[in-house]
Amino acid sequence: MEIVVCKDKNEASRKAADMIAALVKKNPKCVLGLATGSTPVAMYDELAKDVKAKKISFKNVKSWNLDEYYGLPPTHDQSYRYFMNENLFKKIDIKLSNTHVLNGLAKDPDKECKAYEAQIKKAGGIDLQVLGIGSDGHIAFNEPGTSLSSRTSIVYLTPSTIKDNARLFFKGKENEVPTRALSMGVGTICEAKKIVLLAFGKNKADAVKGMVEGGMSQFCTASALQMHKDAWVFCDEEAASKLKLKDYYAWRSSTVLAGACECACCCKKAAAAKGAKAKTKK
Ligand code: GLP
Repeated sequence: MEIVVCKDKNEASRKAADMIAALVKKNPKCVLGLATGSTPVAMYDELAKDVKAKKISFKNVKSWNLDEYYGLPPTHDQSYRYFMNENLFKKIDIKLSNTHVLNGLAKDPDKECKAYEAQIKKAGGIDLQVLGIGSDGHIAFNEPGTSLSSRTSIVYLTPSTIKDNARLFFKGKENEVPTRALSMGVGTICEAKKIVLLAFGKNKADAVKGMVEGGMSQFCTASALQMHKDAWVFCDEEAASKLKLKDYYAWRSSTVLAGACECACCCKKAAAAKGAKAKTKK
């Protein structure tokens, strides 16, 4: 896991947007996994700026979102479908028909979740998954006590998540936050080829500490990312403040991002492979 510690949310959002933009440039038909919450909004704004400046296009990109409140119609202003339309899809050139969010009104949630997984599989799997993190360490809506190999299913929110989400959304009215949701599982999320997780503010410091330096546990479902081969965490100083090796992670990730790493294990091998390729071409 690479931890990119940035001076603030704006710098982190731009850096994360750069990683997504690079993928979209390289593979204009890529498949993205997208997240809701207050955290990714600034990054989505950066991507919208890139589209406006014609640096990238989402015309052929497909997306699948992490989760949706169970019981809310897509037109509800607190539904995640509505959130995505307003905060990203309307601002970029993606085709709405290429965007997917679980149906919060599905009569048969199990069928809906199975079909969602099948769609992702048919599309070739998720190339890059965007994630936020709950203050209790959850990813998507995989609350403490969820199996780290869970699949997309109907899930139950903890009182602390209901409180957090009411505070940021739902005008503070906890009784209006649905108690259930449809959510990609931890196992489903970990199948994405690349992960970009964002975390900002001191309210996320314990969750980030648990995810990065805690033992892998279903008590902090984000800790499953410790097993992922290409997971990136973009955070601000506050969210990183409880990390024991914060300065080391910051230095390492900036070195890797700058492509300046000269270690024998990965970079030199890659350089040697490049050289060999060039020779065969001659
Ligand atoms: C919800 C979402 C998560 C998100 C979390 C944090 O629980 N299901 O995907 O990461 O909220 O939200 P925020 O970014 O607003 O702190």
